[in-house]
Amino acid sequence: MLYHSPMQRIDHVFVLTGAGISAESGLGTFRDVGGIWATFDPSRLATPEAFARDPETVQAFYNARRQNLLAAEPNPAHRALARLEAGLAERSGRLTLVTQNIDDLHERAGHREVLHMHGELLKARCTACEAVAEVRADLTTADPCGACGCAGGLRPHVVWFGEIPFHLDVIEERLMAADLFVAIGTSGAVYPAAGLVGAARRAGIATREINLEPSDNAHLFDAADYGRASETVPRWVDGMLRHGPCAGP
Ligand code: APR
Repeated sequence: MLYHSPMQRIDHVFVLTGAGISAESGLGTFRDVGGIWATFDPSRLATPEAFARDPETVQAFYNARRQNLLAAEPNPAHRALARLEAGLAERSGRLTLVTQNIDDLHERAGHREVLHMHGELLKARCTACEAVAEVRADLTTADPCGACGCAGGLRPHVVWFGEIPFHLDVIEERLMAADLFVAIGTSGAVYPAAGLVGAARRAGIATREINLEPSDNAHLFDAADYGRASETVPRWVDGMLRHGPCAGP
């Protein structure tokens, strides 16, 4: 177990990450100045209606992000969270990592379990049989499904606006069992992810925000570290693993 402060023992840390943790790996965020949604129109690229209307344009958007991801590497923030997962496990504790990100940088940093509530860029799903398969090459509308053979129905296995995020039941179950909720690199703009800090507070769970700047939800957190994730996250993890009380409640 770890200590968040002299009075409180920590056995289970629940971490929610957003695009900000992958920003220093060269992957874009969405709502920062010059972000993805400042450059591209999400209604034309990240909705089921957009895919039905113009699948080639949607596939091209995700193909470009997939190639960008394959050229990217985990940064010190991803690696620090993997150290925390291992450090908690050594002390019979647990880290639940939920990410809004569709990249695989947490996995490549060494995480054993990552709950991708918005899906995964390196997977494709067949709209005919729902089979999900790994994908690293460009997806085209002509590609056949490896499971059912239907052509033309493969889509990125990501959650679009208007669709229900994945793993919501296990996310709620793990959050209610946590001793500490930490949000890293997220603006707190998109629900249900943005509602997790409120659920944690209502359950009496300590909360911490680690972000470049105060998020839309900053007022809901007991403690915060602001700065670049590659610096703030390793510093926080080192403090947690050293058994010292980290700044905050
Ligand atoms: N270190 C730490 N935080 C950073 C860094 C950095 N180097 N760079 C940016 N940030 C912070 C920003 O200040 C911002 O608060 O990361 C946050 C990114 O916010 P968004 O761009 O809104 O990304 P996110 O919160 O993950 O978006 C949630 O919206 O469009 C959907 O599906 C998409 O999963 C995404 C969801």
